[in-house]
Amino acid sequence: MTETELPEYPMTRAARCPFDPPPALRERQRDEPLGKVRTWDGHTAWLVTRYADQRALLADPRVSADVTRPGYPLTGPLRTGGGTIGFILMDDPEHARLRRMVTAPFAIRRVRALRPAIQQIVDDLIDGMLAGPRPVDLVEAFALPVPSLVICRLLGVPYTDHEFFQSNSRILIRRTATPDERGAAFQAIYDYLDDLMATKIASPQDDLLSELGARVSAGELTRREAAGTGVLLLIAGHETTANMIALGTLALLEHPDQLALLRDGGDPSTVDSAVEELLRYLNITHNGRRRVALEDIEIGGCTIRAGEGLILANDIANRDPDAFADPDALDVRRDARRHVAFGFGVHQCLGQPLARTELQVVYGTLYRRIPGLRLATTLDRIPFKHDGAVYGVYELPVTW
Ligand code: HEM
Repeated sequence: MTETELPEYPMTRAARCPFDPPPALRERQRDEPLGKVRTWDGHTAWLVTRYADQRALLADPRVSADVTRPGYPLTGPLRTGGGTIGFILMDDPEHARLRRMVTAPFAIRRVRALRPAIQQIVDDLIDGMLAGPRPVDLVEAFALPVPSLVICRLLGVPYTDHEFFQSNSRILIRRTATPDERGAAFQAIYDYLDDLMATKIASPQDDLLSELGARVSAGELTRREAAGTGVLLLIAGHETTANMIALGTLALLEHPDQLALLRDGGDPSTVDSAVEELLRYLNITHNGRRRVALEDIEIGGCTIRAGEGLILANDIANRDPDAFADPDALDVRRDARRHVAFGFGVHQCLGQPLARTELQVVYGTLYRRIPGLRLATTLDRIPFKHDGAVYGVYELPVTW
C-alpha cells in the first residue's frame, strides 16, 4: 500500500452507534493491530489499537510526548503564537518537575475532603433545575457548571468569568478551528491566568493559583510556567468531566436496564463501578494519545523507527476483547478499573481522583433525585462533538 492509499486517522464513527469507536478501528485491531495511517497533513504515523501494546508503549521511556519534536503526529495545524499548555506536552525531567508542583491538591486524600462541597454544588444545581422550566439543556444547566464550579474553587478563579474561559476552551480543543482562532483563544486564557497570578502573588488566598504564585516568588517556577500550568488545569478540569456527565447520562438513558441498576440497585459500590465502566465505554478523549519514538522500538513483530509518530487509540483499546470480556456491552457492575481512559504511564491523568469523585457524586445523585429524567428529543437530533479533541454532546435536552 502506498502512503496516499493508507487510511486516514481519525476515522469516522457509525452514525447510529454514537457510543462506539469507528468500525474501521475495530477492523484494524482485528487484522493489523500495529499499522500505519495517514494524518490530516499527509504524514504517516503508527496506529496502535491493542490494549497491551498501548500500555507497553505509554510506559516506555523511549517514547516522547514533546509536541515540538519532528515526527510528532499533530492533531491539526499548530496554533499561532507561542506558549505551551502546561506539562502535558513535555518530557521528563521538565514534565516531572512541573507536575510535582501541583500533585498534592489532586491527591486522593485532599480530593476526598472536597466531596461535601461537590455534593452541595450538585444538589444546588439540581434544585435549580427542578425549580425551573422544562425541558432544559442538561449541558448548560448541569454538566458544564459542576466541574467548572469545582475547578474554579480549587484554582481560585472567579466563576463569574465562566463564559469567557468555557468559550475559549471550546475553540482551543476544536479540531476544525483555524490556527489563528486557536492562537487567539490560547492567548486570551493565558493572559487571563497570568493577570490573575499577579493578583494572587500580591494578595495570596487559600487556593492553587496562590500556591503556584508562592512558588514563583520563591524562584521555583517562572511566571510563564505557572500560567501555563494554570491554563492546563483550568481547561482539563472542566471540559473533560463535563462531557462525561452529559454523554454518560445519555448512555444511561439509552440503556434503561443499566440506569435502573445504578439508581435502584441499593448497592453503593455500583456507583463506583458505573463510573469506571462509563469511562471505559465512552472514551471521551477519542483522538488517541500522541507520541513520537526516540529510539527504534520492537513491538508486536514490528519495528517502530526513531522519529516515527505513534497514535495510541485508547477508545478501541478499551474495547479490546483480550482485555475486557464482551467489550461492547455497557455493564455498570463489571470491574473496569484497568481501563486506559485516563491514559497510562507518566502522563496518566493528574486529575483522575477529582474527576472520579465528581462523577461518583453526579451519577449517585442526579438519577435518584430526578427518577423520571428522560430525553426531550430523539437520539438522531442530538449534536455530537465529532470535531472535538474531547467527545461528547453539544446539548442534551431533557425533561422529567
Ligand atoms: C473524566 C474526566 C477526565 C478524563 C477522561 C481525562 C483524561 C486524561 C487523559 C487520557 C490524559 C493523558 C494524556 C496523555 O497521555 O497524553 C490526561 C492527562 C491530564 N489530565 Fe485528565 N482527564 C479528566 C479529568 C481531568 C481533571 C478533572 C483534571 C484536573 C485539573 C485533569 C488534569 C489532567 C492533567 C494535568 C493531565 C496531564 C498529566 C501529565 O501530563 O502528566 N484531568 N487526562
